[in-house]
Amino acid sequence: MKTSRRKWEHIDITLNKEVEGPQTTWFEHVHLIHHAAPELNFTDIDTSIYFLNKKLSAPVMITGMTGGHPDVAHINAALAEVAEEFKIAMGVGSQRAAIENPELAESFAIVRKKAPSTVLVANIGAAQIVGGYSLKEIKKAVEMIDADAIAIHLNPAQEVIQPEGEPIYRNLISSISRLVDAIDVPVIVKETGCGLSMEVVRDLRDAGVRIFDVSGAGGTNWILVEKYRALKVGDELKAALADSISVWGIPSAASIIEARFMAPDAVIIGSGGIRTGIDAAKAIALGADMVGIARPALEAYFRGRLNLYIDAFIREIKAVMFLTGSKKVHDLRKKPIVITGVLREWMSERKIDRWDYELMRRGLSKTSIL
Ligand SMILES: Cc1cc2nc3c(=O)[nH]c(=O)nc-3n(C[C@H](O)[C@H](O)[C@H](O)COP(=O)(O)O)c2cc1C
Repeated sequence: MKTSRRKWEHIDITLNKEVEGPQTTWFEHVHLIHHAAPELNFTDIDTSIYFLNKKLSAPVMITGMTGGHPDVAHINAALAEVAEEFKIAMGVGSQRAAIENPELAESFAIVRKKAPSTVLVANIGAAQIVGGYSLKEIKKAVEMIDADAIAIHLNPAQEVIQPEGEPIYRNLISSISRLVDAIDVPVIVKETGCGLSMEVVRDLRDAGVRIFDVSGAGGTNWILVEKYRALKVGDELKAALADSISVWGIPSAASIIEARFMAPDAVIIGSGGIRTGIDAAKAIALGADMVGIARPALEAYFRGRLNLYIDAFIREIKAVMFLTGSKKVHDLRKKPIVITGVLREWMSERKIDRWDYELMRRGLSKTSIL
């Protein structure tokens, strides 16, 4: 099936089918402590951060979703407009289709026209990195949107279920390492809903990667998305496989802890099932520098409520900052948190000492340096 048609099917399924769960993010096991005397005025709260040498008004990125078909250009245009208006970051979906067919480039290029000044992130899949894309092709993706960075997405679980999937990952780390050395924009490695483990972050960090988007389990579940596509083409075997492994993945809260533990000096984007400003504040308090949202932005756009959604989301973060006495975003990292239940057990099993981790999450963030 053509890549561009598949992109439209993904949007249709994520909007119209049940594609979240059964795993949760585990943010329900992270508790921020209400501060009844914050010694701040609400107007003192500053949600801005620096990311990739640009100032954002809030620690938020709409992560890569679409492009690659003329029919989806309006989605990228709308997401870019809202990113520019609110000065948040935005990623585009996989640019593979447009690299292979330049006629489709406009559905991506439109984002820079609509968002001339904010952070934009190009996107390409791991399968293309190991499957022979040269530096020239990767540069094309960056130039197409005048990107501030390029995200390499890892989606092995999706590739296993996808009827036309390419679960080919051998030599990925060395290929990424070569890319990091050769390309002149920062490389972000992102998952797509199954999370990054500390082992993967360690290997990628050794390969020179300094920005990680964990995209953990608990949000959009790509195993379920591909299940619906498998059912549509009558591939019952893959649909059954998808059902069985739909619980797969590292919950987002656990993935943020693992990534921060292994890469204290990295920029961590907490994502996967971030749905409210409280989720966002928890992700940041736990160790992320900023958060990523995908499906809720798409849904809000189709409901005609995109501006309202982003506005409310940022205000929710601001509200939680006020209620924890956090004047700046990274003050959230210094506020007390309680980690309970299975997340606490996970840390113990993974040999992440709770109190070592406490120092780590309180450490100075490096977001402003990159
Ligand atoms: C419709 C749709 C298309 C997506 N396409 C891509 C993609 O092309 N490249 C990518 O890196 N991630 C892609 N993602 C994954 C998201 O960037 C994100 O990592 C994931 O959906 C988890 O975030 P969420 O729970 O907020 O949706 C897509 C997500 C959605 C909803």
